Amino acid sequence: MKNILITGGAGFIGSHICLEFLAQQKNVFIIDSFINSNKNVFHGIKKILIKENNFKESRLHIFKGDIRDTLFLSNVFFKAKQNGTPIESVIHCAGLKAVKESFINPIKYWDFNVGGSINLLKVMEKNNCRTILFSSSATVYGNSSEIPFKETLKTNPINPYGFTKVTIENILDNLFESKKNKWKVGYLRYFNPIGAHPSGLIGENSSSKPENIFPIICEVASGLRDQINIFGNDWPTSDGTCQRDYLHVVDLAKAHRMAMSFLNDSNSTKLVLNIGRGESTSVLDLIKAFEKTNKIKINYKFTNRRSGDVGISLANTEKMVEILKWKPEKSIEDMCRDGWKWQKSKLKN
Ligand code: UD1
Repeated sequence: MKNILITGGAGFIGSHICLEFLAQQKNVFIIDSFINSNKNVFHGIKKILIKENNFKESRLHIFKGDIRDTLFLSNVFFKAKQNGTPIESVIHCAGLKAVKESFINPIKYWDFNVGGSINLLKVMEKNNCRTILFSSSATVYGNSSEIPFKETLKTNPINPYGFTKVTIENILDNLFESKKNKWKVGYLRYFNPIGAHPSGLIGENSSSKPENIFPIICEVASGLRDQINIFGNDWPTSDGTCQRDYLHVVDLAKAHRMAMSFLNDSNSTKLVLNIGRGESTSVLDLIKAFEKTNKIKINYKFTNRRSGDVGISLANTEKMVEILKWKPEKSIEDMCRDGWKWQKSKLKN
């Protein structure tokens, strides 16, 4: 497999995956609407690869557009073919991910996430491209009490965003079953990716107001916010604050490379994998680790629980280790150091 399409390839996770595949000398086609990302990310990617003496302009193809637009998508596949590098597989990261907004505007979420995925799958089928790795989320487990979450658990989403992720998984299941010998489908259920590339040249650069913990900690560290509100200190956890399975975004990108190799090396198959470290960290412990690593005080205040939150989200990683023969390498300290390095460089520019 030499030619890969990454939808949402300019986003936080997509951009790290793009770098990972370019570094492997693949031809990478990026589709992004840039509604919640920035084209500058590709300058960062180029700089990293040029430093490593591993950049070739002709390997990176960037297309601005929306995955709900059939004509646009068909055109990308057509151009890739014309270029002599037909798209052979897809990593599908494009989608909306703000839980709060998904409650306020569910139709938008169903339209972008599910409508967009259906459109993508139709265009893939038309172009005989039948290998897809989909960015799913630990959100599909909801607040299941069987911790750590195993892939075989019944999905139980608790917000519209989560329902769209489960629905896309179901569509992929149906597709796989209907044409068993044709499709290779995988979905990776990400736990909590944070951090940034260690170069400080790419990282999270969303244009919307952050809702997730790590960019908020960084805003406090840089003085853009006075403090972080910790959502509840009465959870049934060691210190009363929620626990999450944080993993470094560079490790997550690597997991995509390995999962894609697995799909390519298999006959028609369906792969469902948690991607996490299998270790949980509380909100307070993450804040303490950030303070210690970066020598910056983070002010916080305890507030009420956030609606729709879960107390503990932790991956069972046995299947990931067995299939990928790998586990994430980077520590919470690496995540705090690299994520802050990126935030500082972002503030300078
Ligand atoms: C959230 C979503 C999840 C989605 C993921 C990526 C919810 C319930 N879950 O995951 O579906 O896939 O983002 O977008 O929204 N926290 C604070 N103060 C803050 C922000 C967060 O205490 O200002 C705490 C949260 O309560 C949580 C932890 O930090 O315990 C992590 O929060 P967050 O980064 O939003 O991720 P998730 O809630 O795990």
